[in-house]
Amino acid sequence: MSDSEDGSEFERMVEEIQKKITREEEALYSKKVLEEYRKPRNVGRMKDPDAFAVVKGSCGDTMEFYLKIENDKARRIEFMTDGCGATIACGSKLTKMAEGKTLHDIGRIEEEDLLKSLDGLPEENLHCAELSIKALREALRMYEGKKGDSPSRFKDNAMETARKSAS
Ligand code: FES
Repeated sequence: MSDSEDGSEFERMVEEIQKKITREEEALYSKKVLEEYRKPRNVGRMKDPDAFAVVKGSCGDTMEFYLKIENDKARRIEFMTDGCGATIACGSKLTKMAEGKTLHDIGRIEEEDLLKSLDGLPEENLHCAELSIKALREALRMYEGKKGDSPSRFKDNAMETARKSAS
């Protein structure tokens, strides 16, 4: 068999594996979950956020939230996770649900609201939604605790220390 035949055989195999993974994902997750997971929004580690938290879930994975706050509203939100695809979907969806809202309204977003907006998650991924909500609420709590500090923004070294101790 020539090199080019070997190459195309390999490409066919990769394509087949990819198709199989896609079929399995589609059997497990809703369209909305897959949309968020495949094209997540607001992924990143914002510089100098007003609110920040990193929380470790029961599975050992972490979720981080970063918020820029103006007039008590979330002007910008970013998230970062080392967790699974469902957690990426939760983080992306949650940033969209929270962006532009008052901190009071963000604090009232429940796990059920997130699950509903994603058309649900498999039983084994429910804790991923819980982790996302917990991390966002923790960021709000940290912000409340820092209010009045000068400067009240989170600095890189403080966030790095928090990330290290959570991992
Ligand atoms: S965050 Fe750990 S399995 Fe989803």
